[in-house]
Amino acid sequence: MATGPLRFVTFEGGEGAGKSTQIRLLADRLRAAGHAVEVTREPGGTKGAEEIRTLLVEGGAGRWQAETEALLHFAARAEHLAHVIRPALMAGKWVLCDRFADSTLAYQGYGQGLDLDWLWTLRRHIVGPTEPGLTLVMDMPVEKGLARAETEQRYERMGVDFHRRLGAGFRQLAAAEPDRCRIIDAARSREEIAAEIAGLIEARFGVSL
Ligand code: TMP
Repeated sequence: MATGPLRFVTFEGGEGAGKSTQIRLLADRLRAAGHAVEVTREPGGTKGAEEIRTLLVEGGAGRWQAETEALLHFAARAEHLAHVIRPALMAGKWVLCDRFADSTLAYQGYGQGLDLDWLWTLRRHIVGPTEPGLTLVMDMPVEKGLARAETEQRYERMGVDFHRRLGAGFRQLAAAEPDRCRIIDAARSREEIAAEIAGLIEARFGVSL
């Protein structure tokens, strides 16, 4: 297999930051340049992981203990890695994923207050060598993001302070791993953001789009 960063690109950020639009635009661009692309999301991506997603996004904000919630996210992730992400990478595809392990650190760690070392231990066990080659953190003011979020689900109901903590968490995670992570100013036009992302992909992976 080729060396260098895995062609596994994760999109992270708070609610309503425009991740899915940018994933679609990048997938189109990669495909137009002749690349095979798998687009997927977390929690979810396999039948079992989508069942776990339903447990996580429905119901009252206090439905789960935070530990339960973190373990459910990692359980869904283990399924997703085994059945979708690793096979696609082995088949030479790009994998574009709407959220991944940084969301657990941000939401369950910085947001819900779980121990960050414990979450990193779980992450190392479950993700192992399949860390993303590039993580794009879509950064947007909390109020604006929440106003744009399309659904009213569990995490959107957790309050503005919670969302502020996780926004700060994402920025800290990105600052700690500057090779892997880039912060994207998501409060711009979709075209400007898409052009910046295409440039970052070219620079990181040595492809032309
Ligand atoms: P989505 O709205 O981006 O599809 O994601 C579903 C929700 O799940 C979102 O509010 C963020 C939350 N989430 C976590 O709390 N921890 C995680 O590890 C992941 C992947 C998502």
